[in-house]
Amino acid sequence: MKIPFIKPFLGEEEIEAVTNVLRSGKIHGDGPIGKKVESKLRYLFGSKHALLTTSGTHALEMSLMALGIMSGDEIILPSFTFASTANAIMLQGAKPVFAEIELGTLNIDPIDIKKKITKKTRAIIPVHYAGVGCKMDDIMALAKKNNIFVVEDAAQAVCARYKGRYLGTIGDIGCYSFHETKNITCGEGGALMTDSDEIKERAEIIREKGTNRSAFLRGEVDKYTWIEKGSSYVNSDILSAVLNVQLDRMKEITARRKKIYDYYNDSLKDLAERERIYLPEIPPECEHNGHIFYFRLRTEQERYHCMAELKNRGIGATFHYIPLHSSPYGRRRLGYKAEDLPITELVSKTLIRLPLYPQMTNKKMEYIVDNVRNVLGRL
Ligand SMILES: Cc1ncc(COP(=O)(O)O)c(C=O)c1O
Repeated sequence: MKIPFIKPFLGEEEIEAVTNVLRSGKIHGDGPIGKKVESKLRYLFGSKHALLTTSGTHALEMSLMALGIMSGDEIILPSFTFASTANAIMLQGAKPVFAEIELGTLNIDPIDIKKKITKKTRAIIPVHYAGVGCKMDDIMALAKKNNIFVVEDAAQAVCARYKGRYLGTIGDIGCYSFHETKNITCGEGGALMTDSDEIKERAEIIREKGTNRSAFLRGEVDKYTWIEKGSSYVNSDILSAVLNVQLDRMKEITARRKKIYDYYNDSLKDLAERERIYLPEIPPECEHNGHIFYFRLRTEQERYHCMAELKNRGIGATFHYIPLHSSPYGRRRLGYKAEDLPITELVSKTLIRLPLYPQMTNKKMEYIVDNVRNVLGRL
């Protein structure tokens, strides 16, 4: 049996939607379908504004530009994240300050954030790992007290909630990803969510090469011109058409993913009770979206053998983030050492992710669990 790690859940409706846009000849960005998708995002998640972007990476970059982050500013983020979170900071000439994560959820630890706030701190970027919410009440309270922004990296957290509120709509800005690997996808894409009119206006200008083209298209100005520093973050209506269908299927996709997640979790529970493996913690205030099912092993060697054995049996299990602080760039450019964040290092070395996609059959799920149990029994 061969089981890939991911498989996008796409069907005839997505194909038809793309064909229709191509036939219409209107394939530019910020077009009629893009606008429809933005209104769907606002409605679904309860955010005042939604701006579609070319990727989650670009939504993060646009966010920090819109907040006026610049050289000399410090931004706190976890090291256990994708390079994009830190790149967005570096591209503004600001300094990433890495905080430790919590072992249960692998999310940024507010106690460590507090220790790392200085006079130069301008923002915190909590990353909702695996679609499980960070401790947003604590993070928002710290931000308010210190007058700093919160940009949620909700790349993995579409349709997940914290205390009933959708992740990506709690901080000043939230960033979603619609990359092929994400629950809701259009191949490459993202969105910036905010309730602030000011941030939305700035982001809209940045997204359109630093011009007021969006206002022009709405008929608010009679010509458009260069008014700020900007870039090109508008995604084509071809991709928006895919997203438009995927968002209609969001509840179904999320439910299917959570069913698989629950099966893995229930089937491996006894191993966690005996501390043979460590399962993810889902805090009661969090409703996750089944984005990732992971567990941790006791040592790096065990993880190496487990992954290799599962691969031999056709199961596309994989590791995840290599910590940013101890990466070649993190060491050379920012002066970090691996031991600065021991929990992050431990997690990165011992974590394994199992295949998870909505159309996975029961037979494949059972095959995976049987083999995980079998492999662990031999280690
Ligand atoms: C935590 C996190 N942030 C940002 C990104 C970047 O998103 P994208 O691939 O859409 O640029 C990703 C995803 O791949 C991610 O996992």
